[in-house]
Amino acid sequence: MGKAENLALPEIGSHALGTGKLPVDHYVSPQFFELEKKHIFRKSWLLVGRASDLKEPGDYQNFLVDTLGVSVVVVRGRDQQLRAFYNACTHRGSRLVNSSTGNTRALVCSFHGWSFSLDGALINAPDAALFADLDPAQEHLKSISVDVWGGFIFINLAEQPEWTLQQYLMPLGDAFDRYLGNKDWSWSFGWRANFRANWKLLVDAQIEGYHVDMTHRKTIAGTVPGSSTAAYFFPESVGVPCGVSAYRPEDSSRGVQTPLNLLSAKYGATSIYTKPERTFAAEGGEGVLKEDHPLWIFDNYLLFPNIVLFVQKGQIIIQRTLPISADECIWEVDFYHTEKPASFGHIFNMEQGVIQIRDVLSEDLYTAEGIHANFKCGAITHVNLNKQEVPLRAYYNRLLSAVQGGKVKGAP
Ligand code: FES
Ligand SMILES: [Fe+2]
Repeated sequence: MGKAENLALPEIGSHALGTGKLPVDHYVSPQFFELEKKHIFRKSWLLVGRASDLKEPGDYQNFLVDTLGVSVVVVRGRDQQLRAFYNACTHRGSRLVNSSTGNTRALVCSFHGWSFSLDGALINAPDAALFADLDPAQEHLKSISVDVWGGFIFINLAEQPEWTLQQYLMPLGDAFDRYLGNKDWSWSFGWRANFRANWKLLVDAQIEGYHVDMTHRKTIAGTVPGSSTAAYFFPESVGVPCGVSAYRPEDSSRGVQTPLNLLSAKYGATSIYTKPERTFAAEGGEGVLKEDHPLWIFDNYLLFPNIVLFVQKGQIIIQRTLPISADECIWEVDFYHTEKPASFGHIFNMEQGVIQIRDVLSEDLYTAEGIHANFKCGAITHVNLNKQEVPLRAYYNRLLSAVQGGKVKGAP
C-alpha cells in the first residue's frame, strides 16, 4: 500500500457532497435541534458503554440521554443476555435506578416497592389485591433495543430500528468487531466536560486534518502534519459517514521529538505521536490496522451521530458528545488499552500520554465555544471547507438526510 494512495484526498466536485460554502443554521437553530432530537437521537444507534463493564448477572448501567430526558437501564440478565429498559416503573413512573452503575438481584422501585426481574417482568407488587385488575403481564418494563459491537453497548430508542447495528456500522465490519471486541481492552483514563457550544462542533474538531499545523503547532504538528492526514468518506454508509487517517511524514527530518517523548515511547502505547520502539499487545487487527504501512499511526471514524472512534494498535479512544440543548453539550473521552502498566516505565508512559493527549485535546476543543458564539450572533452565516475537510461535508450530508427522514442520502 503506497503512501500516495493512502493520502489521496477526494477530488473536489467528484462526489455528491458539493463544493460550496455550508450554512451554519444547523448549529444554532432551535428548530433544527428539535428535528435532531426526533430524527437522530431517537433513531440512531447510540453508544452507551462497554459490555465488559457489565460482566455479572445483575450488573447494570444507567445511561442518560440528556437531550431527550431519557434514562436507560442496561442490565445483564441471569441468562447472560444484555437488556435495556426505560428507567421507568410501570406503576406510576418513578425512576427505578438512580445510581449510574451497580449490581442488583432485581429492579426494585423505591416509591411503592414494585419489583421487576432482570428481564423486566413484574415479579412483585406489594398488596397487589388493592388493585382492581392488575395483570403483571401488562406491566413489563418498556424495552429498548440493545446490541453489542466491538465490545461496545449500543442502544436504539426507535420502536423498530431501521437497521441492525451491524448494518448501521458498515463499512466497519466483522474485523473491527473482533478487534475492538478483544476482551483485553480495559479502560485506562478519561475526562468529561461541559461546553457552551453546539454538540456537532466538538465532533467537527476531530474529523479533519487541516487544523493540525496551526492548532497543534506547539504539540504534534511536527509528527502528524496536516499533509500527512487523509480524509475519506463512505457515501453508502448509514452510521459511518467519514473518517481520517494519520501518518508520520515521510521526511524524517520532521517529527523531531523531545527527549521526554522518545523515552516515554519505549515503554508503552500512549505516546501515540512518536514512533513506538516496541510492539504493543492487541490481538488481531487484520483488516483494521494499516500496520503494513510503516508510517501509519491511527484512524479516526465518525460513528454517526456523536462518536469519534480512534483506532490504533494497543489503544482505542472514544469521544462522545451529547447535546443538552442547541447551545450546550457534554463531551466525554475514554481511553482503552490492552496492557495494564507492569513497570515503572510503563506507568511513566501512561502518565506522559495522559498529559500529552490532554494538551492536544485542549487545543482541539478550545475553539468550539467561540465558533458557536460567532454562529449564534450572526457574524458568520456560512463556512468554507476544503478537500481535507470533506468529512465535515459528509457529516452535514448525513445530518440533513437524517432530519429529512432519509435513510442514507437525500441532502441537497
Ligand atoms: S411508582 Fe414504582 S412502585 Fe409506585
Ligand atoms: Fe486535532
